[in-house]
Amino acid sequence: MESSAIAPDVSPMPARVDGEARPVRVALLGHGTVGGSLHRLLVEHREHVRLATQRDVEVCAVLVRDADKARDGLDPDTTLVTDSLEALLATEPDVVCEAMGGIEPTRTHLLTLLDRGIPVVTANKQLVARHGTELFARAEAGGAQLRFEASVCGAVPIVRMLRESLAATRIERLLGILNGTTNFMLTAMTAHGQGYDDALADAQRLGYAEPDPTEDVEGLDAAAKLSILAGIAFGTTVDIDDVRATGITGVTAEDVAHAAVLGCRIKLVARAERLAAAGGGTTVALDVTPMLVPETHPLAAISGATNAVLVDGAPFGRLVVQGAGAGGPETASALAGDLVSVLGSEPSFLTRDPHVAHLPVAPRDARAERHYVRMQVADQPGVLAAVAGALAGTGVSIERVLQQAAGEGEATLVITTHPCAPGDLDSALANVTSSDLTVLPMLDED
Ligand SMILES: NC(=O)c1ccc[n+]([C@@H]2O[C@H](COP(=O)([O-])OP(=O)(O)OC[C@H]3O[C@@H](n4cnc5c(N)ncnc54)[C@H](OP(=O)(O)O)[C@@H]3O)[C@@H](O)[C@H]2O)c1
Repeated sequence: MESSAIAPDVSPMPARVDGEARPVRVALLGHGTVGGSLHRLLVEHREHVRLATQRDVEVCAVLVRDADKARDGLDPDTTLVTDSLEALLATEPDVVCEAMGGIEPTRTHLLTLLDRGIPVVTANKQLVARHGTELFARAEAGGAQLRFEASVCGAVPIVRMLRESLAATRIERLLGILNGTTNFMLTAMTAHGQGYDDALADAQRLGYAEPDPTEDVEGLDAAAKLSILAGIAFGTTVDIDDVRATGITGVTAEDVAHAAVLGCRIKLVARAERLAAAGGGTTVALDVTPMLVPETHPLAAISGATNAVLVDGAPFGRLVVQGAGAGGPETASALAGDLVSVLGSEPSFLTRDPHVAHLPVAPRDARAERHYVRMQVADQPGVLAAVAGALAGTGVSIERVLQQAAGEGEATLVITTHPCAPGDLDSALANVTSSDLTVLPMLDED
């Protein structure tokens, strides 16, 4: 088996042909959950792509297994639907987006494309993890870019962060919740006291887990993603089989309950860390394993199918990114981002966006939100009614009230409001007598 060496850089593709006005021709390998979403995104967000790249984009061809199947949004007059790579190549695509999955024939197709100098963006973690070295070598030889943001953590831009934002830093450690299915199950086991089998059944019923969940629950999906990220983070060659993977199949409801007593949550954590070797030098420790994570740790708060990656290093300290790790539109957004990068962007394109450049600034009262109000009031009958009356007078409605004696004839009144404009709250509080007043907006839970 091959190891994946994620090249720190790939040879740039000429972003555009000077003077050429024709749209960029994009071919899609796969038109399923991700490929179909990408196609919709390229149509619905055509203007964003044009602003970012100064080019129009059109989907010239789509490769699928069954070319006769009815598919939404495909116009046979402009887009060839085929099961033949040769037919797809005959449409002369400038860029190819791969969302068909699997190792073969996908690997062979990508090698053919890269050999011809056609840039590729892919969502295929198994392919990048297992055949990265070969693919990147051929991309370099062919003078074509190969980008793979969508292959790890869906919409979360972790590859870009490691490769570009942190390119000039030293990364010491990377911790991730890289598999949404198992995090969904562990979250359910924690929140509802469910056992493993019930959590898996729910995950399958809700579409988070495949009918055959082996890749997810045995930690293999997370191991593939970790091998890709560790390769970039440490600039090293990582064999996916060097990642020690332990899944969550042995985690019981009792373990989850004991962890809670210890102030922890059980999470399937993917770790890549530089460690000093016994005889000197540096080693890289790589594992995916269920761990007890303290409730105060950033990864403990990652719930449901969300993915997150925490990176420690110098001189930046710690960065944490989180978001949707899967889903058609979410993963398509990462593919589209890579597509824009391949096509090249104008550094100042945002300033030319008429919608952005001329957006007026919203007035303070444009946003109604919940507020926390703490005030020091006289501890006597009728005070609470007076405050409530003042608030009602400007249409501010009370959500909760807490009252506490504060000594020497005073009381602390804490009020939370339903969503209201700050100006209405200000007007109401101007009519309230209070020796100490604090008003804070409250962030919604979502
Ligand atoms: N789904 C997600 O949330 C997600 C998230 C991150 C990454 N990914 C990755 O994205 C890739 C695609 O996933 P998906 O969920 O979109 O899969 P999918 O819904 O099963 O779609 C696969 C598409 O590829 C086509 N295809 C499969 N094998 C083919 C072959 N041998 N020749 C030609 N066409 C073939 C299928 O054609 P037919 O339509 O004719 O069957 C289908 O259009 C995978 O690498 C996956 O790991 C997916």
